[in-house]
Amino acid sequence: MTIAELQKHFAENLREYYPVAEIQSFFYLLSEKYLNKKRIDVALTKNEKVSTNVQTLFEEAIQQLKIYKPIQYIIGETLFFDLPFQVSEAVLIPRPETEELVRYILNNTVRNNKLNILDIGTGSGCIAISLSKHLGKSTVFAMDVSAKALQIATKNALNNKVKIDFLEADILIDDAHYWTNIFQNKKFDIIVSNPPYVLQKEKNLMHKNVVDYEPETALFVPDNDPLLFYKNIAEFSIKHLCKDGILYLEINEAKGKETVSLLKDFGFHSIRLKKDIFGKDRMIQASKP
Ligand SMILES: C[S@@+](CC[C@H](N)C(=O)[O-])C[C@H]1O[C@@H](n2cnc3c(N)ncnc32)[C@H](O)[C@@H]1O
Repeated sequence: MTIAELQKHFAENLREYYPVAEIQSFFYLLSEKYLNKKRIDVALTKNEKVSTNVQTLFEEAIQQLKIYKPIQYIIGETLFFDLPFQVSEAVLIPRPETEELVRYILNNTVRNNKLNILDIGTGSGCIAISLSKHLGKSTVFAMDVSAKALQIATKNALNNKVKIDFLEADILIDDAHYWTNIFQNKKFDIIVSNPPYVLQKEKNLMHKNVVDYEPETALFVPDNDPLLFYKNIAEFSIKHLCKDGILYLEINEAKGKETVSLLKDFGFHSIRLKKDIFGKDRMIQASKP
């Protein structure tokens, strides 16, 4: 089978499942991974033969795409802030709106300062690693409740050649001894978090590829306590931010005002609610009380 024939076979098999442009984009991502060819090289070598091994890999990908497994989990990697990240079903696939949060923090931060930074709910490590890459003098800590996520994040830090202190910890635990054991008296200049914020009732509005494959613990909060993580993060941050320290949060687009008023109630000041490129309330910056 030639590359051209493989591409035709791929498109025909997925035609009923995805729009044409998306099928093409899947094919080029898989070609980069399995044929080691960029889009332009695929076009230039259409008559080259494809080995049976590679044909099998594409066949397996077709079967997984038919059951709506995200392409990032199939190829096991994605790009975030132009950096490569391994992903598995233990971690959320990093999102473009989170890249906006990272860009926002970098625009607000003096690059040469030696800062202590903490990322809560690090998942693939995408926020912590991108910040560390761009704020080279800073010390970056990252925590997650999921040991499996931390394994992936650790690999991603190694692959991206940054040193991050990863910690397994549960931000919902409100116990001073627990946190003293983990951090002693360490204080942070920046605390950032993209915590779970999707309501259970929003589940049926979400695509099958998210609900069926991405980790529940990374996504959902109970309908009766939508700001659960924000409350715990705010309480933790009051104790663990330095004087003048800043908290940065990604938020549920429907909960902007509530999250701002929660932070006000905790005494945070200079609170800014920011929209993402789609005009949705998506980020909050707040200074330590
Ligand atoms: C929305 S994901 C964000 C992942 C990553 N920071 C990103 O932006 O792509 C939320 C993360 O919080 C973690 N998490 C969930 N509950 C937690 C808890 N109680 N304590 C600490 N981390 C938690 C999940 O395992 C998941 O990795």
